[in-house]
Amino acid sequence: MSEPVVRRLTALDAAPLRQLRLDALVETPESFGSSYEEEHTLTLADIREWITPANDGAMFGVFMQDALAGMVGVGRQRKLKMRHKAHIWSMYVAPAQRGRGLGRLLMHAAIAHARTMRGVRQVQLSVTANNAAAAALYASLGFTVYGHEREALCVNGRLYDETLMALPLANG
Ligand SMILES: CC(C)(COP(=O)(O)OP(=O)(O)OC[C@H]1O[C@@H](n2cnc3c(N)ncnc32)[C@H](O)[C@@H]1OP(=O)(O)O)[C@@H](O)C(=O)NCCC(=O)NCCS
Repeated sequence: MSEPVVRRLTALDAAPLRQLRLDALVETPESFGSSYEEEHTLTLADIREWITPANDGAMFGVFMQDALAGMVGVGRQRKLKMRHKAHIWSMYVAPAQRGRGLGRLLMHAAIAHARTMRGVRQVQLSVTANNAAAAALYASLGFTVYGHEREALCVNGRLYDETLMALPLANG
């Protein structure tokens, strides 16, 4: 088994990222705010804008034998009064690669990137309340719960609560 490689995604990664994102939306729709129906029409040019966002954001991928096996995005709020807050989005590891530490590697990369964002004091994320694996990962990295949104998502007619978590950054 080869070692995983984590790196920042570039515009050249748009095609595999698009595919992984659509796979994620189909496999665990309750884990994401967006839907397959909303994103399957996105072009590679749209995806390239995710990869090279304005405002300090970035996307990271983890590769196994050169194949994209997981992804995560990190961004910061745009509004002047909220620019001190970063957020994690699109966290996903392909089912066949789970339980091998890839999710943790992605989170380390995203948090390290957030630390480079000047003036950012905390990293926020939301996790579906029944997602024990993701919540355990985030808690193990120092994220704590600051809120709970009831009935945050409605997916295929089922309502899901979300847990809101945040990690304070020492250098913020
Ligand atoms: C959540 C997810 C990203 C974790 O990725 P992963 O590569 O399997 O995670 P790792 O192997 O790096 O595990 C890291 C930690 O996560 C937790 N974890 C992972 N799988 C777990 C499971 N099945 N049950 C409980 N905790 C689990 C553990 O704390 C683990 O640390 P440990 O190995 O030291 O015990 C992956 O399960 C996934 O993509 N799920 C579907 C999409 C999703 O839920 N995304 C998150 C949206 S907020």
